[in-house]
Amino acid sequence: AAGDAAHGKMVFARCAACHSMTPGKKMVGPSLAGIIGRKAGTVEGFTYSPAMKAYGRNWDVKAMDAFLASPKTAIPGTRMIFAGLPNAADRADLIAYLSAAPK
Ligand code: HEM
Repeated sequence: AAGDAAHGKMVFARCAACHSMTPGKKMVGPSLAGIIGRKAGTVEGFTYSPAMKAYGRNWDVKAMDAFLASPKTAIPGTRMIFAGLPNAADRADLIAYLSAAPK
């Protein structure tokens, strides 16, 4: 089911310490502008872990859902230190927000 992007924007508060939605704005993590559909580990100028660079997948909804549920399970060795979002509705809403935001 499609998520609620307005609620997803609130969920994004848990990401905003480390990620911006502004294109090119690097923080502890890479900018997430335009992330849905992009190949993992490819924001220019950001130094990723070897694990993220080797992942090799596009961030489709399925891959993003698995990563956000448990980053270190989906990509062992990732440098993203975040426990994950256990609530599936929160993940769906957040993914709707990430998909809808201006590239
Ligand atoms: C990487 C999403 C929370 C730090 C990533 C990537 C995504 C993502 C999709 C891969 C980016 C790419 O392929 O270009 C999120 C979301 C979060 C969240 C949606 C909230 C639910 C956090 C937090 C931190 C963080 C709280 C810091 C404590 C990082 C770092 C990377 C990363 C350092 C690079 C990981 C690596 O190279 O292995 N994040 N993130 N993220 N994130 Fe997050």
